[in-house]
Amino acid sequence: LSESDLVEKISKGGGIPEKFILPKEHRPEVQLTRSSDEIPVIDMAGLDDQRREKTLAQIHKACLEWGFFQVINHGVDETVMEYMKEQVETFLSLPVHERAPGGIRKGVTSQGYGTGYVKPDTGARDWRDYFLLRTYPESMRDYETWPNRQSFRDAISKYTLEMKKLGERLLECLSINLGLSPNYLKEALGELHQDLLINHYPPCPDPSVAIGANKHTDLGGVTCLWQLDDVVGLQVLKDGEWYPVTPAPGAYIINVADMVELASNGIYKSIQHRAVVNPAKRRISIAAFYDLHPDAVVKPAPELVKADRPALPSVRFCDHAMKLAIETDKVGMKVLD
Ligand code: SIN
Ligand code: FE2
Repeated sequence: LSESDLVEKISKGGGIPEKFILPKEHRPEVQLTRSSDEIPVIDMAGLDDQRREKTLAQIHKACLEWGFFQVINHGVDETVMEYMKEQVETFLSLPVHERAPGGIRKGVTSQGYGTGYVKPDTGARDWRDYFLLRTYPESMRDYETWPNRQSFRDAISKYTLEMKKLGERLLECLSINLGLSPNYLKEALGELHQDLLINHYPPCPDPSVAIGANKHTDLGGVTCLWQLDDVVGLQVLKDGEWYPVTPAPGAYIINVADMVELASNGIYKSIQHRAVVNPAKRRISIAAFYDLHPDAVVKPAPELVKADRPALPSVRFCDHAMKLAIETDKVGMKVLD
C-alpha cells in the first residue's frame, strides 16, 4: 500500500491493512488492571541538597524493582526542550519528501525518516513512523537525511547535548548505587554513540488489534524518553502485567537498557516495554539512546560477580544490536500517515 492508499482505505472505513493486525495472542488489552501511579517519579533536584542519599536510594530501588522511573527537576534546559518541541512539531507537519530528503529510510540501520518496526514475534508491523538520527559522535551526523532547515539542526544539536549530559548524570548515579566508582558505567560503555528516535504514532482506527511499538527492551546503556503530549501510550511489563505510564508534566521517562543490565551483572533489569496507539490522537515521543560503539565489548563489573551471581556472558554491541535488525529489512520502509 502506498501512503495515499492507506489513508483512503482507512477513511472509507476499510479498516486496518492486514499487515498491521496482530495475531490474537499478541493484541494489547484495552483495559489494564494496573495503574500508572505505580511507576516511581523521582525529584532529581534532591541529588544536589541534603536529600542526596535518599534520592540515590529512590533511584536504586526503581532500578531494582522496575528498571523504569520518571524524573522531574532533571536539569534539562527548558528553553531547549521548548525549542525542540516546536521544531519537531514543524518537522512532522512537513510533506513527506521534506521529512525524508534523502528518500525514505532503506533499512533498519540507516538514518532518516520512515516506518519503524520492532523485530516481530507477531508477524505484524508497528503502527508508527519514526525519524532516526545518530547524533554522537558528531562526525556521524548524516545531514543528507535531515531536513534542510537550520533551525531543526540547531534544535537537534542543543537537545542532544542536553540528553548526553542527562545520560551521563544518570550513569553516574547508577554506578554509585551499584557500589562502583562514579565513572564506572561511563567508562565501561565506552565512547557514546547516541541515537535519537522521534516516534510519530498517527491515530489508529482500531487500537485493540495493532501496536505502536511492539514489545522490546532497549539495546544500549540508558534511555531518556520525552513525550511531547499527554497522550498515554507507553506500557511497562512487570511481573507479567502491563503498567501504563502517564508522564508527569515536563518529566523524562528513564529506563535501564541491556548494556547496563549486563554491566551490573543482572542486578538492574532492562525491562520490556511497548507503545499502544489510540483512535483519537496522534502521539509523539522522543527517545535519546545512550548507545555504544559497534565494537564495544561489555562485561559484568568484576565487583558484582559473586558465587551466587555468576558472570553473565560478555557481548559485543553490534552482535547484540543484530537481534533487533533481523527480519526488519524485509519489510520496506514506507510512511504511515
Ligand atoms: C519505544 O520504546 O520504542 C517507544 C516508547 C514510546 O513511544 O513511549
Ligand atoms: Fe524502547
